[in-house]
Amino acid sequence: MLNSHFGEFPKLHEAFKQHFLIGAAVNPMTLDTQRELLTHHFNSVTAENEMKFERLHPSEDQYTFDDANRLVEFAKANGMGVRGHTLVWHNQTPQWVFEDRNGSAVDRETLLARMKSHIETVVTRYKGSIYAWDVVNEAVSDKSGELLRTSKWLDIAGEDFIAKAFEYAHAADPGAQLFYNDYNESVPEKREKIYTLVKSLKEKGVPIHGIGLQAHWNLEHPTIDDIREAIERYASLGMKLHITELDVSVFRHDDRRTDLAAPNDEMLERQAERYKQFFQLFKEYSDHIKSVTFWGAADDYTWLDNFPVNGRKNWPFLFDTEHKPKQSYWDVLDVARS
Ligand code: GLA
Repeated sequence: MLNSHFGEFPKLHEAFKQHFLIGAAVNPMTLDTQRELLTHHFNSVTAENEMKFERLHPSEDQYTFDDANRLVEFAKANGMGVRGHTLVWHNQTPQWVFEDRNGSAVDRETLLARMKSHIETVVTRYKGSIYAWDVVNEAVSDKSGELLRTSKWLDIAGEDFIAKAFEYAHAADPGAQLFYNDYNESVPEKREKIYTLVKSLKEKGVPIHGIGLQAHWNLEHPTIDDIREAIERYASLGMKLHITELDVSVFRHDDRRTDLAAPNDEMLERQAERYKQFFQLFKEYSDHIKSVTFWGAADDYTWLDNFPVNGRKNWPFLFDTEHKPKQSYWDVLDVARS
């Protein structure tokens, strides 16, 4: 039904083939419902949830790889790359990882042994199929004056849980590029913390190759100047950069409306303008930026539906709910051609 018109539209990944990969986060449902769109425009996929700790390793002796395998097979069958997401995170990690049989906290050695075993198993399984892994996700704090966020990883293992995760991942697949990934990555105060963390890892000789900028952005924030500053600062560490979770909410931060059935013209124009500026920047820095992944593919499915405002739909992508190109798509394509 949705598919007949796809051939008419230039493929995004071909338009940017000199610059970077074009990726989308997918899940078992969208692998079916967005199949045509995905295979037409994208040459990289990421599991929205299916490679997270709780999904792959729900209890100590049990691994569940079916959904992740299906994604990797889909990518192979369609000549796409896979970005792995994510090995160590404070969220979506099961309780058992941090507790003994009586429910008390495990000691540092036990936790690191569990981390190692998880990373070895997962990274080895997909060795050669995954070009980059988000090894550690969101370890930096948003709180003023605090470098690392409080988490069980930090509480139990201490701050070198981060270095250990990279070492274990590198040992399991020396060919995979290893990333530190975070949000609010363009906010100056957090940017400096991410910079400080990655710089210290690099100085210790930790095998880290890149920084993932999640890029959950909106019509106003962050400013182009702040994004440029973040790209330059991270690139100055000699890191590769990936845009890992790009979406552009059509709501300004203080806009809490829940009555819109569709985005209005003003939103769509502003969104197109923003996307154009972002891709101009990505292209300008394409010596550093090697992959640009959207956190979804089209407006029929986005994690921003009902978040952070319940009962509110969002329309954050280049393609609408019927997978038709929006003005944002045409403006991004113009950037590739200019
Ligand atoms: C973070 C995580 C993603 C995802 C989003 C929300 O950005 O890195 O895996 O959970 O939140 O969908």
